[in-house]
Amino acid sequence: MKTRITELFGIEHPIIQGGMHFVGFAELASAVSEAGGLGIITGLTQRTPELLAKEIARCREMTKKPFGVNLTFLPSVTPPDYPGYVRALIEGGVKIVETAGNNPQKWLPTLREHGVKVIHKCTSVRHALKAEAIGCDAVSVDGFECGGHPGEDDVPNMILLPRAADELKIPFVASGGMADARSLVASLAMGADGMNMGTRFIATKEAPVHEHVKQAIVAASELDTRLVMRPLRNTERVLKNVAVDRLLAKERELGPSLKFEDIAAEVAGVYPAVMQGGQMDAGAWSCGMVAGLINDVPTCKELIDRIMAEAEQLIRGRLSRLL
Ligand SMILES: Cc1cc2nc3c(=O)[nH]c(=O)nc-3n(C[C@H](O)[C@H](O)[C@H](O)COP(=O)(O)O)c2cc1C
Repeated sequence: MKTRITELFGIEHPIIQGGMHFVGFAELASAVSEAGGLGIITGLTQRTPELLAKEIARCREMTKKPFGVNLTFLPSVTPPDYPGYVRALIEGGVKIVETAGNNPQKWLPTLREHGVKVIHKCTSVRHALKAEAIGCDAVSVDGFECGGHPGEDDVPNMILLPRAADELKIPFVASGGMADARSLVASLAMGADGMNMGTRFIATKEAPVHEHVKQAIVAASELDTRLVMRPLRNTERVLKNVAVDRLLAKERELGPSLKFEDIAAEVAGVYPAVMQGGQMDAGAWSCGMVAGLINDVPTCKELIDRIMAEAEQLIRGRLSRLL
């Protein structure tokens, strides 16, 4: 399957693995890229630019195929060493960056100068158009269903994707709620040039996370996610657990006077305990509604091959027979 996204990134299949905190290590990124998709290392999970440089080198040993690095720009009083991370990925020869969070404009000239392609993750048509205007090569359009930060507009992909298709000139991938061949074919029908998956890739053999995390995703239904931090306008979709119940109780109790410090125990720095320690109740961790469509733990290659084979069957079989 050839789309503007496979052409842009030089990959075999139009499937991207989105950056994920404490999940997007070299093991997962290289497995996705080896399977013909685009694997992405999560930049900020590496505590320093030096560690990111090592992670990139490790990934390069595991695959000769293209892979990318995610840079999430967070609003922060003491920002991470972004210039250092950008230098590390450029010096590491990375040619694809997935940006997310704040506007990446400041970093585009340096990235472009070094031949790095930028795909920016957005949760609204407004932000996608902004990304196009500042010179991003592509966007990842993240609907309300998504695991992680869906923004504050609450527009699901059945509306968001065709709206993006109507407005954008640069290619985009559908993100949020994507799990299988049906997701891919529907996204293509709505005007996307591929899809980005987060939660689905956590439940794979190569994802370097505790077995409990994979089993929690397999066990969860589409009803098991919750939105937290809405009062702070920093909404995150997470898997329901006792920490999330506690957090939501505090949100209800404190109402508009809620501050980040009130819920820090449930959200700050909890990823290592969850993802590596397998302590499923240690805090709130991102998970998409798509958990309801995830019933197994395949290898990345099995997953991607299955998606591509079934997508072809869907298009050539069911869809063309309807005509
Ligand atoms: C556990 C987890 C951690 C994530 N961490 C990040 C992150 O650090 N930066 C980022 O841009 N997106 C992050 N995301 C969002 C994903 O890259 C992707 O956009 C999202 O998962 C798509 O929705 P889906 O889970 O329904 O596939 C995370 C998602 C999950 C599930």
